[in-house]
Amino acid sequence: MNRLTIRKPDDWHLHLRDGDMLKGILPETSRHFARAIIMPNLVPPVVTSADASAYRERIMAALPADDRFEPLMTLYLTEGTDPDDVEKGYKSGLVKAVKLYPAGATTNSHSGVRDLEKVMPVLERMAKIGLPLCVHGEVTTPEVDIFDREAVFIETVLDPLRKRLPDLKITMEHVTTEDGVNYIRAAERNLAGSITTHHLIINRNAILVGGIRPHYYCLPVAKREKHRLALRAAATSGDARFFLGTDSAPHADPAKECGCGCAGCFTATNTMSCLAHVFEDKGALDKLEAFVSLNGPAWYGLPVNEETVTLSKEAQPVSYPEKIETGAGPVTVFDPMFPLFWRVE
Ligand code: DOR
Ligand code: ZN
Repeated sequence: MNRLTIRKPDDWHLHLRDGDMLKGILPETSRHFARAIIMPNLVPPVVTSADASAYRERIMAALPADDRFEPLMTLYLTEGTDPDDVEKGYKSGLVKAVKLYPAGATTNSHSGVRDLEKVMPVLERMAKIGLPLCVHGEVTTPEVDIFDREAVFIETVLDPLRKRLPDLKITMEHVTTEDGVNYIRAAERNLAGSITTHHLIINRNAILVGGIRPHYYCLPVAKREKHRLALRAAATSGDARFFLGTDSAPHADPAKECGCGCAGCFTATNTMSCLAHVFEDKGALDKLEAFVSLNGPAWYGLPVNEETVTLSKEAQPVSYPEKIETGAGPVTVFDPMFPLFWRVE
C-alpha cells in the first residue's frame, strides 16, 4: 500500500507554550491536525476558566490564516481549584478536561497536587458532570526509581482513586510501560490511555548509549525495549482505549543542551510520517486511522473530523527541517533515527 486516506487526525496531548514559542511551533501541528488537547503547564499555569479562555484566544491569534484548528482547553488542577469554576468552564463548552500533575513530576509542575485529598471535591464534581481527568501518571517520591514511577503510580494512586471514584473518566496520558498498557486493558470502564509518537520509537538506550542525547529525554522517561514493544502492540491493536497524544513539547535548544536539560521531545513536525512508518512496520496501516482519528474523539465524546488527509509513501526519504526556528530560539525536531518515506500530501 502506497497511499492511505484517513479522517484528519487529532492530537490528544500537546504543549503549545505561549508568546513567540507558540507562534513558532503552532503551524507544525495545525498543518496536519484538526484539534488538540492543550496542556495547561504554562508559567503561571492555566488554572481557571478565565485563564483557559484567554489562552485559547492567544492560540487562535497565533494560528496561520489558512489553517483550521481547534484547541481543546484543559485546566491545571491545583489544591485551590474551585469545583464551581471547573463546572462552569465545562458547561460553557470551553474546558474539555482537567489535568493532574503530581507536584514536581515534570516541567512547570510545582503548582501541582501534593495531597490528593485536597482535590477530592473537584474530582467528585468532575465524576458527577462527566468531565475527564487527564493524569501525568508518575509518583514523585524521591525513593522511587525514575524508571518505576509509572508502575508505582498505578498501584498507589491511580488504582485507589478509580476504586474510590469509579464514575470519574480518567485518561492515563503518555503511557510508557507494559504495566500501564495491561492496566488499561484490564479496566472495564472509564479508563483510556494516550501514547506518544516517540515512545513508540525509542527505548532508553536512545538517551544514554554512546553519549547523553538530550533531545530523547522526556517524562515519563523512555523505558526498556519490552515496554516499547507493549506500547506498539497497544497502539496498533485498534483497541479503542488507546489513542495518539504526542506530548510534543518544545524547548529551545539551549534549555535542552545543558547541564540540567528540560524534558520534552518535539515531534509535531514529523509525527504523521513517524506513525505511518511504525504502523506499516507492524503490518497495521489499517489501524492507523483508529489510533489518530477515531478512538480519541470517541473517548472525549466529540464528533470525528469530516475532513480527510492522504498519506503517501515516497520512493526517496522525505526530509524535515532539523530545527524549527522560533522567536524564542531554535527547537530541534525529533529524529527517529531511520529514514521516513511517508508524508502527508
Ligand atoms: O517530557 C515532557 N515534557 N513531559 C512532560 O510531562 C512535560 C513536558 C513539557 O512541558 O516540557
Ligand atoms: Zn506533556
